[in-house]
Amino acid sequence: MSAEPLTVAGGARVEAARRRTFAVISHPDAGKSTLTEALALHARVIGRAGAVHGKAGRRGTVSDWMDLEKARGISITSAALQFEYRDAVINLLDTPGHADFSEDTYRVLTAVDAAVMLIDAAKGLETQTMKLFAVCRHRGIPVITVVNKWDRPGKDALELMDEVSERTGLTPTPLTWPVGIAGDFRGVLDRTDGTYRRFTRTAGGATIAPEEGLPAGAAEAREGEEWTRAVEESDLLAATGAAHDQELFLDGVTTPVLFASAVSNFGVGALLDTLVDLAPPPAPRPAADGAARDLDAPFSAFVFKVQSGMDAAHRDRLAYIRICSGVFERGMVVTHGRTGRPFATKYAQQVFGRERESVDLAYPGDVVGLVNASALGVGDTLYADVPVTYPPLTTFAPEHFAVVRSRETAKHKQFRRGIEQLDSEGVVQVLRSDRRGDQAPVLAVVGPMQFEVATHRMEHEFGAPVHLEPLGYSLAMRTDAESVAGITASSGTEVVQRSNGEFLALFTTKWVMRVLRENKPHLTLEPLVAAQL
Ligand code: G4P
Repeated sequence: MSAEPLTVAGGARVEAARRRTFAVISHPDAGKSTLTEALALHARVIGRAGAVHGKAGRRGTVSDWMDLEKARGISITSAALQFEYRDAVINLLDTPGHADFSEDTYRVLTAVDAAVMLIDAAKGLETQTMKLFAVCRHRGIPVITVVNKWDRPGKDALELMDEVSERTGLTPTPLTWPVGIAGDFRGVLDRTDGTYRRFTRTAGGATIAPEEGLPAGAAEAREGEEWTRAVEESDLLAATGAAHDQELFLDGVTTPVLFASAVSNFGVGALLDTLVDLAPPPAPRPAADGAARDLDAPFSAFVFKVQSGMDAAHRDRLAYIRICSGVFERGMVVTHGRTGRPFATKYAQQVFGRERESVDLAYPGDVVGLVNASALGVGDTLYADVPVTYPPLTTFAPEHFAVVRSRETAKHKQFRRGIEQLDSEGVVQVLRSDRRGDQAPVLAVVGPMQFEVATHRMEHEFGAPVHLEPLGYSLAMRTDAESVAGITASSGTEVVQRSNGEFLALFTTKWVMRVLRENKPHLTLEPLVAAQL
């Protein structure tokens, strides 16, 4: 984050065009934090070098938060890191790092225009990466692939390309190709012009790794067989049509690939260049009625994440918005679409890790954290002047269900408040029914780790220790009031309601649901969006 506003005067369209808003999708340990740090470092140092062009004073505290995050070991509070690179403004949105797929991650991916799929060279495509990739595919988000940890022994590069194409269905179109096998990373062949970018190791990757550009002839003289092999493999790829095509990339048919070693800062500059040159800027966002709102239209945004109790120093509730159109000016009064009420944006911040900084101006593609936004829920639209409603964010089909009860009856109020809060943040879905009553609602989640988070937060944040009693359901379908009696007459079922009033039918097994549907075809039973898309 810069000490100065990162924006210059100009229309929303102009500012939007230089924004690149993306997230890194990866399996834990693939190097996402390391890469994030390397990207920020790279951009910061480039920014410093930019002083030559009259941009002195821009170097801020961009990576200070890293130390804090490192000290804490994990990042659970992050939202978006913004920095400038070349003429672009990069917004890197953080996705939760824990192993369980959660709705939170999906929501972050509704707010990005591109994704970087980070793969560990030794492990290839891992489960979490595949799940996140499925979300990108579902949402039509273009994906740039980065093969990381090339400094360590790993798989064969061509083998990795086969894996990407077989498992994701995307055609890999490497922009760079490694010179030296995994574990002997010497540099990359730049497939766009056939030159060699030779890397120089720096102590612990603490600074930008210097890259030396060499023409092919000099590269061969220097690296011998390793260079020849890289050229041969690159030619082989060319013969199979693995060349970048911008349209196919944006259409989700191909994925540009880069080879990197985040820990040594190798290939990080190339990734930034690729983001600036190839990743799409924000586009007009389609509203619920199908019409896209122009980038120059008055301000509009949607809430993609709500978080509270972030840390002891800032115990409050933040709603993160992604700006879709117009200019955001701190202090402006906007309309909260769902209630029609005015919302004053007096406290607007950029948040990454524990660092917060006031935001005075922001443009399409940017993320702003609105403080004490207790009225705002995930999926809500905010707008100025001309009304707009963005489509609601998908709620995934939960697969795990448990009854939650307060362990201490005296803490009923805290229990209620906590459950409501977790529901509005989307940490869990809270399902109610007359039969179960308010004291024992059902919590529904996509991944069991969401239960752990909920239990922990109920006790430590809301002072209401809870007990969870797992229920034997594994499937939820959307239904309606008219079908309730018909469904609950069967065993192995139950009907509950989401907080938005929607009816959900729960089933112990798919089979129970199928039998019911066959016997009573008049009942409404519609599938929800599955997390495993
Ligand atoms: P994550 O956020 O995706 O979970 O991964 P993180 O960056 O924390 O990296 C996981 C481990 O992989 C770290 O090692 C990190 O140093 C290492 N790593 C990341 N990128 C590279 C790379 O390009 N090459 C190599 N060789 N290692 C890499 P660790 O042992 O868990 O932690 P640390 O002791 O190194 O801090």
